[in-house]
Amino acid sequence: MDRYCVFGNPIAHSKSPDIHAAFAAQTGQQLSYEKCLAPLDGFAAAVQAFIAAGGKGANVTVPFKLEAHALADALTVRAQAAGAVNTLVFSEQGIIGDNTDGAGLVNDIARNAGVAIAGKRVLLLGAGGAARGVVLPLLEHRPAALAIANRTVATAEGLVQQFAALAGEGVLSACGFADVQGQYDIVINATSASLSAELPPLPPSAFEPGALALDMMYGKEPTVFLRFAASHGAIPRDGLGMLVEQAAEAFEVWRGARPATTDLLQQLRTKL
Ligand code: ATR
Repeated sequence: MDRYCVFGNPIAHSKSPDIHAAFAAQTGQQLSYEKCLAPLDGFAAAVQAFIAAGGKGANVTVPFKLEAHALADALTVRAQAAGAVNTLVFSEQGIIGDNTDGAGLVNDIARNAGVAIAGKRVLLLGAGGAARGVVLPLLEHRPAALAIANRTVATAEGLVQQFAALAGEGVLSACGFADVQGQYDIVINATSASLSAELPPLPPSAFEPGALALDMMYGKEPTVFLRFAASHGAIPRDGLGMLVEQAAEAFEVWRGARPATTDLLQQLRTKL
């Protein structure tokens, strides 16, 4: 049976084995998918051991996405753009590094939330790894504007420089939270502020009435950002859909079959 796993540290909380088991059952594929706790100083060795044991592919989560990027023999275009890898394919040509996080986000927005990105004004909060990973997939959907706001403005400006050539004239911009101007149809929180129950201090006027507010984090309770967004007229959406969609994208990369996600997303929601 083909073997897959997810590397992380910690990893006990991971929902990926349940998600991929559901995808395998649904598409009639025979595979196993385990959790692999890699030592903090032993990611590469853990990957090599898994390959030697016959592993076909793996997901990579915190804190190893940058190491996975460095370890790969070849990178997909979207992994190069993201500067991080969350999906590995072990092929005869070596280790291929991919990144399905951004595709997961845009698929969740476009398909699950039913909000088209084309022509919309999008505000991305944060400029770290999670934000960088979604810039290219967002631009591919041709938003009218993609503003990147970050606590450290220089980091957001760096992202604008990196992606400027791929964006239309005047589409990409960078600023600090307090300097966000205008209203946005889609506001995405890619900062890690929710982890410490903090709120990026953006003006409430940033939300167009009925805007989609998406936090990459998820949990039983809405994050501070989602509560703030909802209280200013936005429709809140947490990161559970993105999690399931990035997994569906990885499953398709490995197995060539696209699983349906709607029922699974509902089931996972009830178990939070
Ligand atoms: P990740 O991989 O989760 O993106 P990261 O690369 O460390 O982690 O990036 C964290 C992001 O969250 C950054 O944009 C960071 O802002 P800075 O670049 O100014 O550090 C942002 N962030 C972290 N804590 C925050 C807070 N309390 N308020 C606002 N932004 C915060």
